[in-house]
Amino acid sequence: MKPKVLVVDDESVNREFVRLIFERSGCEVLEAENGQEAIEVAKREKPDVILMDIIMPFMNGLEACRKLKSDPETFNIPVVMVTALGDLSHKLEGFKAGADEFITKPFDKNELLLRVQNLIKIKRYNDLLKDYSNVLEKEVQKRTEKLRQAYKQLDEAYYELIQRLGRAAEYRDDETGEHTKRVGIMCGIMAKALDMDEEAVKNLEYATPMHDIGKIGIPDKILLKPGKLTEKEFEIMKRHTIIGADILKGGTHPVMQIAEKVALAHHERWDGKGYPYGLKEQDIPLEGRICSLIDFFDACTSDRIYRPAMQVDVVLDMIKDEKGKAFDPKLVDVFFKILDDLMEVKKRFSHGGKPLRIIADREVEDEGL
Ligand SMILES: [Fe+2]
Repeated sequence: MKPKVLVVDDESVNREFVRLIFERSGCEVLEAENGQEAIEVAKREKPDVILMDIIMPFMNGLEACRKLKSDPETFNIPVVMVTALGDLSHKLEGFKAGADEFITKPFDKNELLLRVQNLIKIKRYNDLLKDYSNVLEKEVQKRTEKLRQAYKQLDEAYYELIQRLGRAAEYRDDETGEHTKRVGIMCGIMAKALDMDEEAVKNLEYATPMHDIGKIGIPDKILLKPGKLTEKEFEIMKRHTIIGADILKGGTHPVMQIAEKVALAHHERWDGKGYPYGLKEQDIPLEGRICSLIDFFDACTSDRIYRPAMQVDVVLDMIKDEKGKAFDPKLVDVFFKILDDLMEVKKRFSHGGKPLRIIADREVEDEGL
């Protein structure tokens, strides 16, 4: 593509003189009679260089240069100011206005050509760099978006896998798998209400559906037994906490590490009478205390194959009674503050029907009390 040179001069003789020089050297020459017209042509034609006279009517060369250099559309076009010999003040003004080069009248034809050609080379090199940088930026944006999509899909798959793992563990007594899902979401809401940071909220939401994974290791005759468990059977039932933590132990991802803590601690009680270790108050990990309360609320208010759901009011009264006994009193207060949100989760993530089999009423001791 031919280099474009814009010659700005109010004298047509001068313009014609310069035109001939550049046309002979293979350039396309554009003309403007004053600064105002120069700006219009520069914006429209995007020349590779502008040769600007200083003294012109309407808008002089200095003012035009200032405007061109402050406009993002034209600031990268090199401007050569044409000054009279010994005109130092115009030269200084030209520098201030952002001029790239000066040529003194009367000029030597070869010097003018060389100076302009150098500027065109630099301009084209800069344009190339700019284009390359735009291409690179677009490519980075494209790849970042691809990476974001891949991460999202991986995250969704991870969450789904956790849900299904939790569901597999509870399948025998929670056929729909909705309890595990609700526990995760409700624990996330509770964590948010406790001002835990976004990452911690997400980790807890992902980890808690696996709280009862240790039930895999509990025989059907105990897990699904209608009626009260014997002392010996209950001892075996309690082991689901240790089995669960054992299945999840050694995880490197924070979700797995929290899941291990929750599996082990979700039947501990604030008063130290829980299991498996009888931990008390703050010694019980916060994640375990949150899951203990949420799991109790949701399990008691959900149908199980061996018992129907209990009335919500009855369960809420039980939670009030167990404040400072089974449950962390501070968490019970927060629980009642966010109760509407928790009930909304129950409504949204419930199949609405009865489970396939309801065997018989059963004591709630396996729900944590
Ligand atoms: Fe449990």
